[in-house]
Amino acid sequence: MRNGFILGIESSCDETAAAVVRAGEQIISNVVFSQIATHQPYGGVVPELASREHLRAIVPVVRKALADAGQTYQSVDAIAVTQGPGLAGALLVGISYAKALAFALDKPLIAVNHLEGHIHAVLLEERRKGNHELRFPVLALVVSGGHTHLYLATHEDNCWSYQNIGHTRDDAAGEAFDKVAKLLALGYPGGPIIDKLSIHGNPHAVQFPPSQLKHKDRNERNIGASNGGPRFDFSYSGIKTAVLRYVETHDLQKSSAERRSALLGMPQGKAEDCLPYCDKRTLDLVASFQRAMVEDLAAKTLAAARAYDAATLFVTGGVAANQELRQKFEQDAANEGVAVYFPSRPLSTDNAAMIAAAAYPKFLSGDFASMEFSAEAGMALK
Ligand code: KG4
Ligand code: ZN
Repeated sequence: MRNGFILGIESSCDETAAAVVRAGEQIISNVVFSQIATHQPYGGVVPELASREHLRAIVPVVRKALADAGQTYQSVDAIAVTQGPGLAGALLVGISYAKALAFALDKPLIAVNHLEGHIHAVLLEERRKGNHELRFPVLALVVSGGHTHLYLATHEDNCWSYQNIGHTRDDAAGEAFDKVAKLLALGYPGGPIIDKLSIHGNPHAVQFPPSQLKHKDRNERNIGASNGGPRFDFSYSGIKTAVLRYVETHDLQKSSAERRSALLGMPQGKAEDCLPYCDKRTLDLVASFQRAMVEDLAAKTLAAARAYDAATLFVTGGVAANQELRQKFEQDAANEGVAVYFPSRPLSTDNAAMIAAAAYPKFLSGDFASMEFSAEAGMALK
């Protein structure tokens, strides 16, 4: 009898991850090997280096996930792997390895959309807490380094489907955090550092204009989402430019340059290392940037929740780890009478437990991938 032990493999960006999850809700093991140290000197993910690091890490990471779970290659019931979206070369490492395992072991192979994985990170943990009664419609904000998407999620006969009702027109929210941190020489990745530094600054010190969507986008908004309803799109390249202008007009380049050289010997990218080199004006700028990002994400998501009469909100992806974002969504959702769920922090950022969890409904319905499937860097979630 199959127990539904699924080995999940994730390699879409800069984390090589493997996990064993039982029946889509019980994490037996969860191993994440982060490549932060490799990409840190460049202030962003270098695709070629990411592929090389995945190649190095994939075998030991999968071995460890099986050993931690007390499982063997033979004892798991299926192998699930991220198909996309993500970096093509990085995805291919996980996919090739998963295919080889599935072929050699004669196990079913399940292809998973990374964004669906982020949504199932929430479902996994709610199921584990005993919350099996979600109120629909569910609106999910997937907000990470590569994505800022709003999906209406529905569920029928073990099958989940998704309708996109909003996405970013330019930079993803996490990308804006990372680029602002790079500009201010705060370290990499920027999101967690800005999160910790923001409590030391005044979030009302700098006013950023609200994000503007171009004319073309307004037309698309009129056309609406594929379901005929309104769209709620995001745009974060403007705020990044506004931070750059503020740095130039308030003479902050010198303090950024000093911080850059002071932090050269501390490649860990920790907020505590950075704080002693941050003047008040920089801390105020950082706190104001975070507040503007959080307010925009919450305002658009709550407006979408009202328009689509959502009963439940999911907020997931790397940026969902942000302290202020969680507080803001909890407050606003409570005011609207909408339930809001986040993954725990370790499951907010990339991991393979979410991939194994998203694969479980497909495992039950026999939705298996053929050996011919390949990476889809721009894969849409439907
Ligand atoms: O989900 P994830 O691990 O990878 C992608 O699928 O992109 O998200 C990584 C992103 C990075 O941009 C990182 O800076 C951001 O999530 N992030 C945060 C926080 N922790 C990670 N952003 C804001 N606050 C945080 N605490
Ligand atoms: Zn992700």
